[in-house]
Amino acid sequence: MKIVFRQGGAEDVIADGAPGERLLRVGQRHGLPLEGTCEGDLACATCHVIVDAEDFARLPPAREEEEDMLDLAHGATRYSRLSCQIILDEMLDGLRVTVPG
Ligand code: FES
Repeated sequence: MKIVFRQGGAEDVIADGAPGERLLRVGQRHGLPLEGTCEGDLACATCHVIVDAEDFARLPPAREEEEDMLDLAHGATRYSRLSCQIILDEMLDGLRVTVPG
């Protein structure tokens, strides 16, 4: 399945992901600047991505712990998510996200 990573200004990266994989890992494997310092423990927000508005509703809602951490993310918008909390499934094929600069 394909995931489109946008980076303000730079070319989009079309990444291959597998069901069950975390979006954070897919981005890291393709060289995107997603630090993921806490490795998915909801303690850093360095895995922040902004989902395209048209795709946002395809994701299951964020848990409260994720929402709390997103409050601390730099440049967060209403379409922000933590990529460590997004587990890929076939329904997310073609998902488009922006990695904030
Ligand atoms: Fe730290 Fe996602 S990797 S919150």
